Amino acid sequence: MRTPLIAGNWKMYKTIGEATALVRDLLAGLGPLADREAIVCPPFTALAAVAPLVAGSQLGLGAQNLYPEAQGAFTGEVSPVMLADVGCRYVIVGHSERRQYFGESDAFVNRKLRTALAHGLRPIVCVGESKPQRDAGQAEPIVTAQVRAALVEVTPEQMADVVIAYEPIWAIGTGDTATPADAQAMHAAIRATLADLYGAEIAATVRIQYGGSVKPDNIDELMAQPDIDGALVGGASLQAASFLRIINYQ
Ligand code: PGA
Repeated sequence: MRTPLIAGNWKMYKTIGEATALVRDLLAGLGPLADREAIVCPPFTALAAVAPLVAGSQLGLGAQNLYPEAQGAFTGEVSPVMLADVGCRYVIVGHSERRQYFGESDAFVNRKLRTALAHGLRPIVCVGESKPQRDAGQAEPIVTAQVRAALVEVTPEQMADVVIAYEPIWAIGTGDTATPADAQAMHAAIRATLADLYGAEIAATVRIQYGGSVKPDNIDELMAQPDIDGALVGGASLQAASFLRIINYQ
């Protein structure tokens, strides 16, 4: 009942030329996607160049961030209206790199998520614990608290457009991925939190992605877990061959 979503988070990589070359390679290698969805999230500067290439294709478009106002005097920021205008359907919010390097609080992540929804964008909201938090046995309470905080004042109807990405911080960019069993346990805890907030029926429809060193050689076993509904992929989404292999998980 949940269509898995494989998303490429390109982070601060790819000029316009590099971005369009990668998208052309992805489109050339992509077979029909009957039972799954795939998107790319290029940097802001490449969105307008990538959008016409993916329009009408099987590849969807997302952004990596937004500012939670429609417009205004916010120098350097990009609004959800602008993202929808350029052709984005998805937007990543609350990535751990933004929480860590740009001081984004749970409250600000919640504001971004609600503003994205208000403008017809589907937020992919990232949650995840640090290594010391996991070692202290605090991973589950911390992650479920992040989920609750991100969803403050989000209605049951709006949950149809929300994607959650569980990304343990210690697994991001390290090659040190969570075991499928540990990831599954956290995804189940997140889904139980959603059931507590919205009821079991809605909780069963929300897609929960895993992220953190997803690679061609671990995607299959991750996707075999019952509560893992896709992947948010950083490094391995930057080359066509590896991202295609991940999209084509078995
Ligand atoms: P990674 O990044 O796949 O390079 O670990 C994932 C992410 O940060 O979204």
